Amino acid sequence: MSKPMLFSPGPVMARENVRQSLTHYDICHRSPEFEAMFKDTTDKINKLFKADDSYKSVIISGSGTSANETVLSSIFNDGEKALLVRNGEFGNRLQQILDQYKIPYVDCSFEWGTRPDLKKVEEALKSDPAVKIVCMVFHETSSGMINPVKAVGDLADKYGKMYMVDCVSAAAGQDIDVKDMHITFATSVGGKCLGAYPGSAYVCGKQDVLKTLTPEMGKNVYLNLARHYQKAVASNQTPHTPNVNLFWALQTALTNVLDEGLDKQIARYQEDAKILREGMKKMGLKFLLPEDQMANTVTSVFLPEGKDLEEFIAKMDDNGYTVYAGKGKFYEMGMFQVANMGEIYPDDCRKFLTVLEKCI
Ligand SMILES: Cc1ncc(COP(=O)(O)O)c(C=O)c1O
Repeated sequence: MSKPMLFSPGPVMARENVRQSLTHYDICHRSPEFEAMFKDTTDKINKLFKADDSYKSVIISGSGTSANETVLSSIFNDGEKALLVRNGEFGNRLQQILDQYKIPYVDCSFEWGTRPDLKKVEEALKSDPAVKIVCMVFHETSSGMINPVKAVGDLADKYGKMYMVDCVSAAAGQDIDVKDMHITFATSVGGKCLGAYPGSAYVCGKQDVLKTLTPEMGKNVYLNLARHYQKAVASNQTPHTPNVNLFWALQTALTNVLDEGLDKQIARYQEDAKILREGMKKMGLKFLLPEDQMANTVTSVFLPEGKDLEEFIAKMDDNGYTVYAGKGKFYEMGMFQVANMGEIYPDDCRKFLTVLEKCI
């Protein structure tokens, strides 16, 4: 079988040196060699978020959800609430985590694929003094929309609230500046725009807040942010046995991106997306979102009326290309998603378009 071309929003195709680093010789996670790799990797995660030393990053052996769960299960005292701004499947996942841990929240919900209304967010912020933190997704992958992260961050700052942003499908694909955007906690994972693997999640958090967390505040033993932070500061280690192989791959992918320049990677993603979108428009396909609201790495597009979505996706698959069906109501509307994350270059996008045209 030939390797599939993954035009899916995670998993993504990794660069050869990232794949090779999975077979690094075995080391002990309590060794100086691990500690040096951990320190270098977490320093590089900070750079991905343009964070200075007032922030510290930790790595969680888990998927993107584990990073979100680490933050949300670790930071609340009794009586404190979240303000959840949501407009899609991954905002709903944050809600699921809050519900699971029985954390009270003010729900500020918008239709899937529509921009959060800042007036409503501000009203919600004013409505309840028990709100401690605003939570939102940066790139709502289910629609491909970039949410107004800076504007909501300005509001969180105005009302003296913390701000958690799920950057799972945004880190290394969008310009993120945690300080400028007033982000207290940013979460992500290797297996998306960074071009590494699932299972290597991370949290970049503000140190003055991280220092106030205690292990006892956490509602979870494994995904405990205080324990992760304290162990990282004390010894550049993780509290439990980490997935060392994936950490090596994460480090290599970060080194690739930062050596070449984050701006350059983002510019490549923008060029890829432009080629894909121009090509799809020429085929007469319609997009879910106006182009100025779209992420650099995901295009949500409708099949022409009367075509069968499952059949189309299977046909693309037979031709070696993986694309995703839309989620929830977008599925019913015949929407599919084309992602350009990881090792995808302009020529790959042009080839993709010829296959797409054939399959449609
Ligand atoms: C924005 C966002 N948040 C969270 C997740 C969940 O990540 P995972 O499936 O790695 O747990 C995803 C997955 O695609 C995502 O796109």
